[in-house]
Amino acid sequence: MLAADKTRGVTYKIGFIGCGNMARSLAEGMLLSGQVVTGHIIASATRESSENLKKMKALGVTTTAHNRDVILNSDVIVLATKPQQILDITTEIQASISDSQSQTHLQPYTASAKNWRPLIVSVAASITISDLEEKISMSKGGSPVASPLPVIRSMPTVASSVGAGITAYCSGNSCNEVDVKPFVKLFSLCGPVVEVPEKYLDAITSVSGCGIAFAAVGLEGMADGAVLSGLPRQIAQKFAAHAMMSAAKLVLHKGLNPADIKDSVCGPGGATMYGIQKMEAKGTRGAFIDAVMASTVITSRVLKPKL
Ligand SMILES: NC(=O)c1ccc[n+]([C@@H]2O[C@H](COP(=O)([O-])OP(=O)(O)OC[C@H]3O[C@@H](n4cnc5c(N)ncnc54)[C@H](OP(=O)(O)O)[C@@H]3O)[C@@H](O)[C@H]2O)c1
Repeated sequence: MLAADKTRGVTYKIGFIGCGNMARSLAEGMLLSGQVVTGHIIASATRESSENLKKMKALGVTTTAHNRDVILNSDVIVLATKPQQILDITTEIQASISDSQSQTHLQPYTASAKNWRPLIVSVAASITISDLEEKISMSKGGSPVASPLPVIRSMPTVASSVGAGITAYCSGNSCNEVDVKPFVKLFSLCGPVVEVPEKYLDAITSVSGCGIAFAAVGLEGMADGAVLSGLPRQIAQKFAAHAMMSAAKLVLHKGLNPADIKDSVCGPGGATMYGIQKMEAKGTRGAFIDAVMASTVITSRVLKPKL
């Protein structure tokens, strides 16, 4: 982010439809950055009594059980429900906007602002840009709308909550450079934002979104080994987490190849090589490959709802 942006803060209004793990992680990361104020975030769930809604409310943001409140009060509308609900909600967005245009007394502040054209950002696995665009370009009555809303398909991670996420995205046909700007600004507050061809998004969902869980399993195993070696759990976990972070930072900041990092720690006949021998004997590397591949397959073939 540019230094100038840091002092200015981000003024876009962001709305989350669905306020589970992913939406909350993004809201937390944005608030943690100090660049977004609570008054600029609104989030909805299926009902007032939702535990997710309560957790979101505890962050200080506005919450509602009516998606319409989110739709008409946001510059950026993030679709953060499970993939199975996303397309119905996309239809609901178009209907709410048409209703508010025909009944101007219903318009809240954002929707009545001049040139208001909210950006739709899906964080859902599996749902393609063309699925989203097809729904967003149809009016309530089923005829094509004159100027479809811009759509982005993205894949953030739950590490957004601590500013350590990474978001991959691709944008739709009706989305121009200006439309993308608020998305990049807001999501950059939670970590790097990377544009990719849509065909990469299922594999990225697996290695990045699901990958946090794979890395956590590895981290837990290392911590267990340290506990078995005599360390108290808290100390074991802290050092295991740093080992994971160290490898990641050497790759990301120094551009090192993971194999070179491993080789640099493995002296002839040394302790690390004995450990690596055990990992190879157990098929650790193969297990990671299989895990990422299995999640990619599920994401691309199974999760996609019937249209
Ligand atoms: N979790 C991750 O690590 C991760 C990473 C990247 C992307 N994603 C994507 O993020 C999306 C959400 O995942 P999640 O893990 O956050 O799910 P989640 O924790 O189950 O939350 C889903 C939320 O959607 C709400 N919801 C369901 N139907 C709705 C409707 N019709 N209108 C408004 N809200 C509705 C639920 O409301 P209630 O609270 O009332 O039930 C809940 O708040 C998924 O599409 C997933 O692919 C997740």
